[in-house]
Amino acid sequence: MRPVKLAPSLLAADFAHLADDVARVSDDVEWLHVDAMDGHYVPNLSIGPPVVAALRKATDLYLDCHLMVANPGDLLDMFAEAGADGITVHVEVGDTDSLLDRIAALGCKVGLTLEPATPFAAVEPFLDRIDTFLVMSVKTGFGGQAFIPDVLDKVRAARKIIDARGLRCEIEIDGGVKAHNAGDCAAAGVDVIVAGTAVFGAADPAAAAREIRANAEAARA
Ligand code: DX5
Ligand code: ZN
Repeated sequence: MRPVKLAPSLLAADFAHLADDVARVSDDVEWLHVDAMDGHYVPNLSIGPPVVAALRKATDLYLDCHLMVANPGDLLDMFAEAGADGITVHVEVGDTDSLLDRIAALGCKVGLTLEPATPFAAVEPFLDRIDTFLVMSVKTGFGGQAFIPDVLDKVRAARKIIDARGLRCEIEIDGGVKAHNAGDCAAAGVDVIVAGTAVFGAADPAAAAREIRANAEAARA
């Protein structure tokens, strides 16, 4: 089993001091989860390629871009150009085949995600073509929501297929993850943990990240 990776979500960081918040956790995380929202796919508007370009200059951490946008095809080139390492799109927006091909052609890691209400069957056919399967454990749009434990069934199902077929795909969980449920996520088979408010909402974000990692690793032991 691969060691657990942490991907703190910048949506919960201080947007007036993003680079400072990144520096506070850099030694304790592997990825930065960049939540891009367009005000159409979700009723919220966050950050886009210009902020990714600024982050690229400020950190070597893996920039894990989660596109909660209605027309991701219009933005892929700009995110890749800005320095995204991974780009994840929602299966709900359709056009999945060509979106995955285009992300790969841009040289980025290919991610596919689904809402809690969307069945795992919508993503299963693509598991052998993606680098990251992002399982949403909250309805997209906002940080600070409550974790939806039922989605761990999708993690378990994907884990079984990935292990049985030796696929490269990593499973990432996103939404409402805290120190108290990180172990459940890891035990279900998650490789990468997104945590926004649990990390950047903490008095000591680095310590919060370390506690989440410790609980996840302990659950796998
Ligand atoms: C929600 C985003 C999540 C969210 C996670 O639409 O995709 O990444 O920011 O934040 P927490 O960990 O606070 O739920
Ligand atoms: Zn996200």
